[in-house]
Amino acid sequence: DVENSLRPKVLGDYIGQNKAKEKLKIFIDAAKMRKESLDHVLLYGPPGLGKTTLSNIIANEMGVNLRITSGPAIERPGDLAAILTNLGENDVLFIDEIHRLNRTVEEILYPAMEDFALDIIIGKGPSARSIRLDLSKFTLIGATTRAGLLTSPLRDRFGVICKLELYDKEDLKNIVIRAASILGIKIDEKAAVEIARRSRGTPRIANRLLKRVRDFAQVKGNGMITCKIAKDALFLLEVDSLGLDNVDRNILFTIVQKFNGGPVGLDTLAASTGEERNTIEDVYEPYLLQLGFIQRTPKGRIVTKLAYDHLGIPMKD
Ligand code: ADE
Repeated sequence: DVENSLRPKVLGDYIGQNKAKEKLKIFIDAAKMRKESLDHVLLYGPPGLGKTTLSNIIANEMGVNLRITSGPAIERPGDLAAILTNLGENDVLFIDEIHRLNRTVEEILYPAMEDFALDIIIGKGPSARSIRLDLSKFTLIGATTRAGLLTSPLRDRFGVICKLELYDKEDLKNIVIRAASILGIKIDEKAAVEIARRSRGTPRIANRLLKRVRDFAQVKGNGMITCKIAKDALFLLEVDSLGLDNVDRNILFTIVQKFNGGPVGLDTLAASTGEERNTIEDVYEPYLLQLGFIQRTPKGRIVTKLAYDHLGIPMKD
């Protein structure tokens, strides 16, 4: 489908995340030279930066199968055991939101990661005993928004830990141009920069905005995305010049108007904005922090002068 056609299939086509790419390339090449499975990989960072895409690329570069699942989808130890016993030699298992595995499932994972073995308890009471089942060697790729969400025994079992960062404007521009070319969309470079600037450092958002701007160009213009078309479309979408949307503005206005610019604790902020605490922390805050619009202090979040200026609110002192 369209979504998948946009996903790069090899490391060489993956734009940005140079640190993660450089490390992964070496570890993949080394594992291939030794004809071994790649060590387990933890990918962490805000949503939409390409964790699933990278796991596709890793499996592809290793020449093995990829099995995709998520923490909440694995409800019981037996669910995980079924997945693990079906993996082929050196296959990749991708577990998204791995911090949401429940404890009993997580405990199955420890010996699986470490010794490629499943410890199964059969029977109950005094006659219960544990048998050990060997698994094929495999690579676990875990994805999460913050590494700190994992229990330390789980985190310690990953040999490779990669932090994904928000993308810069140049990388996002190239991602927009690449996606436009795959989708057969005509776009000029200035328009691509405009979409990149407003994508909050996130390729998933860049690709979504590109598609909505394309709709606008088709109906209101001749299909070509120019800078003017991009700006008009993004205005209609209520995405401002830095990519802030209504939720970002609500968060900033709430801190400014209800809490006098802060500091305000995350739970209080969640209650007064109507957003989930985790959503604020994982989805909205990283970009606002990167812009320097909010700061974290020991007493809570504060809004900075940069944000007042952007919102056009005078700063009281
Ligand atoms: N599409 C989404 N993310 C991408 C990336 N990092 N490189 C190339 N295309 C992408």
